[in-house]
Amino acid sequence: YQVPFVGNEPVLSYAPGSAERKELLATYKKMYQEIVEVPQYIGNKIVKSGNKGEIRPPHDHQHIVGYYHKGTQEDVKEAINEALKARKEWADLPWEQRASIFLKAADLIAGPYRARINAATMIGQSKNAFQAEIDSACELIDFLRFNVEFMTQIYADQPISSEGIWNRVEYRPLEGFTFAITPFNFTAISGNLPACMAMMGNVVVWKPSDKQVYSAQVIMEVFKEAGLPDGVINMVLTGGAETAKTCIEHPDFAGLHFTGSTSVFKALWKQIGDNINTHKTYPRIVGETGGKDFVVAHGSSDAKEVATALVRGAFEYQGQKCSAASRAYIAKSIWPAVKDEMKKALDSISVGSPEDFSNFVTAVIDKNSFDKSKGYIERAQASSEAEVVLGGTCDDSVGYFVHPTVIETTNPKYESMVEEIFGPVLTVYVFEDEKWEETLELVDQTSDYALTGAIFAKDRYVLNQGMKALENAAGNFYINDKPTGAVVGQQPFGGARASGTNDKAGSAMNLMRWISVRTIKETF
Ligand code: ALA
Repeated sequence: YQVPFVGNEPVLSYAPGSAERKELLATYKKMYQEIVEVPQYIGNKIVKSGNKGEIRPPHDHQHIVGYYHKGTQEDVKEAINEALKARKEWADLPWEQRASIFLKAADLIAGPYRARINAATMIGQSKNAFQAEIDSACELIDFLRFNVEFMTQIYADQPISSEGIWNRVEYRPLEGFTFAITPFNFTAISGNLPACMAMMGNVVVWKPSDKQVYSAQVIMEVFKEAGLPDGVINMVLTGGAETAKTCIEHPDFAGLHFTGSTSVFKALWKQIGDNINTHKTYPRIVGETGGKDFVVAHGSSDAKEVATALVRGAFEYQGQKCSAASRAYIAKSIWPAVKDEMKKALDSISVGSPEDFSNFVTAVIDKNSFDKSKGYIERAQASSEAEVVLGGTCDDSVGYFVHPTVIETTNPKYESMVEEIFGPVLTVYVFEDEKWEETLELVDQTSDYALTGAIFAKDRYVLNQGMKALENAAGNFYINDKPTGAVVGQQPFGGARASGTNDKAGSAMNLMRWISVRTIKETF
């Protein structure tokens, strides 16, 4: 099979005066004034409970752009039943027919829905236009299309046979229903998690974050318009913990695809274990969780490159990426130059609403997130072990704005060097140049997480040393580049240790978790 596309979806530039900028801005403004109603999608029903939660843009928290209809556990049970009803027909479809629905969905996002899904992401999750384009348009399109490419590879793989014997494998979906829990911070992840299970023939109950319901609705509209049969993906807007309990306690629960916090993932894993005797099959568990992602820069590295990587890696999308650089180890000989370059870059950055395309940083997702970042900043300002060297201002009068902040600490185990903040706060530890090897050990042993990390050096021997010393410290390892921005089909994404099961998003490795293979030997 040849899939009908080549490579990654090109990122539109949204240059001033461009048609795409005009269209996106007009869509954003229109959607900002309308009141959206986000329903649940259960079987063939669009469910509006009337029990409404508010949708407010994080950058303008007094403005209401709409409501989502909260569901109950009865809705979750109905979603499970609808999924199980849809299962046989969906599982029996030739895989090419399932794949074409998702290729159509990718084309709808690339075309008629592009402005709408980007605007929903800008309004509901406060991404700026460029970050919305990379996430909710390009990355989601890439996930859907590359998954189809991976399907062609998976389904083509067959064992060898011999004379009179035909060995073959059937790639079947899991027996039961699957459950996706998705986060607020990537629209692409929220679409990909239910999609990859459905593509492999599974039926899904999907619980998006209630901070991402606006763009989640666009995804459901796209899937429906692309021809996804009713009941294959059911979107419920219910409490996370109760929904997990209802799904996990069900005998037909067959798999969890999760992106979110480490603590929630661990709790779900335990809950699955506690219910193992009720399940008909061992559920598959795939999770991508937190990170405390590092940048380590040797004295031989280029200060400007390191500074650019830190500014982009730590502050794009307000640091609300599991991959965001949040602890940096910089050699003393280059730190003054790195700091100067970061200061220059941060002085030229503006913070504000995504409606103004020139704003690099917008608001963090909610009050809790704002308070968390602010707390780390204030404690650093008061600490004898730390100093706020850049940024440090926070203002939540209109939106939850935290200015990009750099904390310098003399304690490599200082709280903000160790704990995940999920905001635009970077902590730097400056090491003596001759303590390179000790520093690598420190990087490896400071954090329980192992998601992303970057090493900067010009010297090849030094790079190789870092590669070896940090081999378990990051599932996505970058050499002389920022530790963020993995591209589907180019850098399969995921981490180990407390960061997840490392079943790489955007790869055949992930899709293969959602199938149960029957091996057949036929003798003639
Ligand atoms: N895949 C996203 C990144 O690499 C999280 O930044």
